[in-house]
Amino acid sequence: MLERKITEYIADYTSGEDRLMRTLNRETHLKTFYPNMLSGKVQGKFLEMVVWMLQPKRILEIGTFTGYSALAMAKALPEDGLLYTIDNNEEIESFARRFFAQAEQGNKIRFLAGDALELVPKLEETFDLVFLDAAKVQYLSYYESSLKKLRKGGFILADNVLWGGKAVFSEKNPDKETLGIRKFNDFVKQDSRVEQVLLSIRDGLLLIRKL
Ligand SMILES: C[S@@+](CC[C@H](N)C(=O)[O-])C[C@H]1O[C@@H](n2cnc3c(N)ncnc32)[C@H](O)[C@@H]1O
Repeated sequence: MLERKITEYIADYTSGEDRLMRTLNRETHLKTFYPNMLSGKVQGKFLEMVVWMLQPKRILEIGTFTGYSALAMAKALPEDGLLYTIDNNEEIESFARRFFAQAEQGNKIRFLAGDALELVPKLEETFDLVFLDAAKVQYLSYYESSLKKLRKGGFILADNVLWGGKAVFSEKNPDKETLGIRKFNDFVKQDSRVEQVLLSIRDGLLLIRKL
């Protein structure tokens, strides 16, 4: 109860979504099976703020879903900025593309359909910011391949690193997603190529800086 009140308070004291983001949020809840995969108002605004602060020229997102986080980040891209977003679920491609087409900065989004583990190594770009938000069992692989494409001093934001608390509390038979997240968190913790801070926003965001 207390936790819910605090979550509501956080949302209440965070700036509201614009009409397009609100529509996308609603439609995702009405028309998809796992709407809670969407970043949501608070995390969306946080991602947008990060992009306002960094003014990155190139962003890579792994895990588009219906496009909410991509649109949030694209809002704040500089004039010559581009955001590449990858998803392997063919069913959501037209959904996301429909919203990208309506967004003011939608022309700065490059949607790539396919498996991120195959596509990322082929990208001929150096990224300033990476947002990891796809299959939890593959986090470490996304991390390794995107770290190669990240400039020195660039940032990775990895979503769901608390995994609803399952990353933290030991249980008898942890599921494979929990194990994937724990393995990723443990690996980054001892990785001397980076430094990091775990932010308790929503389901946990690990903010990593490449040294
Ligand atoms: C949590 S959702 C992304 C949510 C989105 N970033 C947002 O905040 O609205 C995860 C997405 O990752 C995609 N995905 C899972 N494994 C993938 C892979 N290997 N390559 C590309 N996309 C993948 C899924 O299809 C799903 O749409």
